[in-house]
Amino acid sequence: MLTLETTRGKVLIFPTQAQLFEKAADLLAEAVSKAVNERGQAAVALAGGETPRGLYSLLSREPYVSIVPWERTLFFWGDERAVPPDDPQSNYRMAVDALLSRVPVPRENVFRIRAEAENLDAAASEYEQLLLRVLPHNPNGVPVFDLILLGMGADGHTASLFPGSPALQERSRFVVATCAPKINQKRITLTYPVLNSARRLMFLVSGNTKADALAKAITGPYNPEDTPAQGIRADGGEVLWLADAEAGRLLLDRLPEKPA
Ligand code: 6PG
Repeated sequence: MLTLETTRGKVLIFPTQAQLFEKAADLLAEAVSKAVNERGQAAVALAGGETPRGLYSLLSREPYVSIVPWERTLFFWGDERAVPPDDPQSNYRMAVDALLSRVPVPRENVFRIRAEAENLDAAASEYEQLLLRVLPHNPNGVPVFDLILLGMGADGHTASLFPGSPALQERSRFVVATCAPKINQKRITLTYPVLNSARRLMFLVSGNTKADALAKAITGPYNPEDTPAQGIRADGGEVLWLADAEAGRLLLDRLPEKPA
């Protein structure tokens, strides 16, 4: 594993995707156990898309089934597609199939975004009110997650914060309705104010198709309008980027690495 300390967070580059997932699972178990020990519960926002499926599957097996305090962990989503919860495109369905149906997490600890609703703005407000009700707040009244998992698209988007989107400018609402422009798919997403209030944010970036976007996110000019993943800058928390060698291949040429 190579470690890169950068102004945009700590980058960990692994030879393989499997090793990336092993480290991510260990870091999740560590963050959740620390939160439960210190505050009695943990709050995790899950990432959507395909990359996290392998991590969720790993967490559904030993030793993680035994070491993660599932009964004291609350699960949320960073974003959701405007589809029913049983739709193959649903981020909720992917996490339930790969993880939440396979571990002893109580149903009442799983908080789904109702993105199938007719009125997405109302569904976004409903989720925001839920976050405010269920999660601890920071001094600015912003709900605080212990850990937020994030993916990144080849265009540099994260959650459902896409280049050029008005959602990138949102500074008061914590959850908004938005749209994935290239596929014209309606979404609901958490916004920077609540994302950046998390204690730890962990990107999972895998595969050759992400190499340009990752190099740009970490070493490119700071421009979240163009590369929304750059807008993730935890205020006092920690931003971790876990990448495999394929996704990190351009970074290694640009940054002096430190051995693990
Ligand atoms: C989504 C995700 C999105 C995802 C990236 C990467 O709902 O699609 O929240 O931000 O993490 O698009 O997706 P892959 O992991 O499938 O490449």
